[in-house]
Amino acid sequence: MADLDDLREGTSFGSAPVKTTEGFHLKGLGGQDWGMKARLSRVFDPADGKTVMLAFDHGYFQGPTSGLERLDESIVPLIPQADALMLTRGALRTTIPANNGKGIVLRASGGPSILNDLSNEEIAVSIDDAVRLDAAALAVQVFVGSENETKSVKNLTTLVDQGQSAGIPVLAVTAVGKEMARDARYFRLATRMSAELGAAFVKTYYVEEGFETVTAACPVPIIIAGGKKVEEKEALRVAYRAMQEGAAGVDMGRNVFQSKHPAAMLSAVRTVVHNNHTPDQAFELFQELSH
Ligand code: 5RP
Repeated sequence: MADLDDLREGTSFGSAPVKTTEGFHLKGLGGQDWGMKARLSRVFDPADGKTVMLAFDHGYFQGPTSGLERLDESIVPLIPQADALMLTRGALRTTIPANNGKGIVLRASGGPSILNDLSNEEIAVSIDDAVRLDAAALAVQVFVGSENETKSVKNLTTLVDQGQSAGIPVLAVTAVGKEMARDARYFRLATRMSAELGAAFVKTYYVEEGFETVTAACPVPIIIAGGKKVEEKEALRVAYRAMQEGAAGVDMGRNVFQSKHPAAMLSAVRTVVHNNHTPDQAFELFQELSH
């Protein structure tokens, strides 16, 4: 028991109004619970509200794709340069050091492989395990317009319900099937649906025409996927355009880990996202760091 001698009554209550904790660095999320906001702050840097997420969850449907054959060799050295990591619980438990200090965005849907219909996913992680793994967010694919639209949207809303009770935000990943148009109209629909159904942030693809309408119509932050591997300068241009047109960050995979110089590429992406550097400036940095 604590010593009860010399119990001192507080006297220093100040005169200024008590500072409130109002204000949050992320669009549409100021009304969330404290735990939810704390977790979101492990994904989006509180200094600028932006994020560079490193995505390497691809194995959950496509196995050891190029660049991800050995996560210990290719990914672990990149961790210090990411704000958050998007990965499966298998990768997390087997390969990622627990003292990495990054926001963990846990892949929470899965089922079909590339040999089957990818839209036919189920929830693949329990909320208890997400809590055990200290997940900062859960990621679920939504296939708007596909045969499994309702099922994947149900996966989203179920995870949102479970996430709200545990204080874990949900990232909706808008997936594009082969038969769907990748245009602003489609992404306005898919991202707005995801936000209205409770996603705390939404991942989508950049489109050249009208991306600013996608970010404007979505009441929560949008981050973009990198997409298939392209030349570094082109990937940096896309990241730059997306940020200029209202994105809150990037969740990049192949354009980092399939680059000949992944660490240099991740640094270049960071400077676009956090320092507003132009694609030319960022590419110059990439070249410098590649030697
Ligand atoms: C898989 C995903 C990937 O994490 C996402 O596509 C990001 O990776 P990339 O930049 O390689 O597109 O959500 O469904």
